[in-house]
Amino acid sequence: MTPSSNMDAEPKTRSGEDYKMHFQPREFLRTYFRHPQEQPEDNYLAWALKMMQKVFCGSGLHGHRLLDVGSGPTIHQVLSACEVFDEIYLSDFTELNRNELQLWLEDSPEAYNWNRIIQYVCDLEGNVDTCESKSERLRRKVRSVLPCDVNQHPPVCGIDPPFDYILTSLCLDAACLDIEMYHQAVAHLAGLLNDGGNLGVLTSFEATFYYVGNERFKALSLSEDTVREAMTKAGLSITVYEKHLRSNADSNVCSDYKAMVFVVAQKIPEQKE
Ligand SMILES: C[S@@+](CC[C@H](N)C(=O)[O-])C[C@H]1O[C@@H](n2cnc3c(N)ncnc32)[C@H](O)[C@@H]1O
Repeated sequence: MTPSSNMDAEPKTRSGEDYKMHFQPREFLRTYFRHPQEQPEDNYLAWALKMMQKVFCGSGLHGHRLLDVGSGPTIHQVLSACEVFDEIYLSDFTELNRNELQLWLEDSPEAYNWNRIIQYVCDLEGNVDTCESKSERLRRKVRSVLPCDVNQHPPVCGIDPPFDYILTSLCLDAACLDIEMYHQAVAHLAGLLNDGGNLGVLTSFEATFYYVGNERFKALSLSEDTVREAMTKAGLSITVYEKHLRSNADSNVCSDYKAMVFVVAQKIPEQKE
């Protein structure tokens, strides 16, 4: 689905608290999460799933607690992670998104159907799993769906840190209104990590907006320098930096990002005096 073409004026750009009223989970899912090969404008989802498979399943990584921040109504970002972490915590700013996640976790007949995307990830992982067994494993490993606000300290309510891994996909560029807020949010998340723990951030570059149905949302325009600086200032050391250049930068109906980046950065233990 793309934004309506017969609108008279450009719609208001939403941000901040607007998410709670105007970000419709089903519109978001139907637009961006049909199938990796059926994405609007770009094939970033196929790239993101491959990246997650490589980072989580192809590197010998294993950990106990993973927190996904700003999960939205989506589970694709933890499909590979659930193979190597014992406990997974999902979180989002809006109740509508948390309710949507809960429907899938409860295997409700009203839940969004993720099976084609789950099967795609099973194929990427070499089909050691069936769609049913991966779904069952993820449902078992997700311990809770928590409220969060990356602009607050602490950013997640209802659970005590630390975590071995914090993942956040397309959330910081949606939640932070300027670069200073972005730096602070990265520092808030780094503060929840164990020494040696990892922060994995999937982010857009040079985006200014994205659509969810007819609602236009602000995106914070980020660059490689901004992201690297935020990580370094937060006491993190970058270990993975993967970039996907948008395949058709001329078509920007749903969003105007130029690239997607997945960065993993490790928390450097503080020196004891
Ligand atoms: C573009 S969606 C990304 C959803 C999902 N993580 C993904 O990769 O598709 C942006 C998400 O950021 C969440 N969000 C907005 N403001 C936030 C805030 N202050 N703190 C945490 N999450 C926020 C929204 O509710 C929404 O789910």
